Amino acid sequence: MSEIGLIEGFLKDNQDYVQEKYADKGALTVTQKTSASDLLTEVDLTVQKRFVDKVESAFPGDVIVGEEGDLSRFPDDPEARAWLIDPIDGTYNFVRGLFPVFGVSIAFMSGGLIQAGGVLLPMMDELFLAERGSGAFRNGERLQVSGVQQLSEACIDVDFCEPGDRKHLFKRCNEVLLQAGQLRCRGAAVVSICQIASADIEGYVHMNLTPWDFAAAQLIVEEAQGVASRLDGSPLRPFDRVGGILLSNGAVHQELVDLLRV
Ligand code: 2AM
Ligand code: CA
Repeated sequence: MSEIGLIEGFLKDNQDYVQEKYADKGALTVTQKTSASDLLTEVDLTVQKRFVDKVESAFPGDVIVGEEGDLSRFPDDPEARAWLIDPIDGTYNFVRGLFPVFGVSIAFMSGGLIQAGGVLLPMMDELFLAERGSGAFRNGERLQVSGVQQLSEACIDVDFCEPGDRKHLFKRCNEVLLQAGQLRCRGAAVVSICQIASADIEGYVHMNLTPWDFAAAQLIVEEAQGVASRLDGSPLRPFDRVGGILLSNGAVHQELVDLLRV
């Protein structure tokens, strides 16, 4: 089985489970992690556990990192064969029933590069897939970022982050918030980043995101001819231990980097 084959099969196999749990979310077991808005459900744990079982049987010895429990750490060797899973990105939206905007995200890395990525948006029935050098697809349809050239005509999703990051956020994003044509904040990184790839919005900014939140969606945007970087425009490498991320359709990227300068 290829890595992209494993990702596609796993996401398709788990869509019904996530949809059923969402439909009956009043019965979910929900616990708080670091704060009242940092939540964990049985769905996060079950999807991550199923994924670990799948990788361990298909590719024994590969590193697996993920949002939950003791998988939440970086590999000792950033070049190792590594799988990154965010079992539910947008857990808060999932629990509160917001929109409903959340996704399941899986990336495969080797040699320090993202080689394959998949994002499932279960309630929208959308499966995004990308392999390095082979393009990005949504339900089989090839994706291309939008041709919007100016920030004043662009729709930018700015994640409002945790309270501890907001002072930093408003300081760095003030001009972006003032100058972007449209603003959104939807609370699920993978959704917004994939929507850059599908030309529905032009940019996404988050002050402090972990690799499993964005690696799969990063490759999807890059394979749709978009651009991903750190907030200062430097390359976005998932394991470089820098926090902020900026993704765009490319055309508005430099304008965003210039405005995000501190
Ligand atoms: P999650 O739902 O998987 O936790 C919402 O602000 C976005 O930021 C979501 O993609 C969310 O991912 C992520 N996020 C939430 N809490 C976070 C935290 N403590 N650190 C980094 N990212 C977080
Ligand atoms: Ca996440």
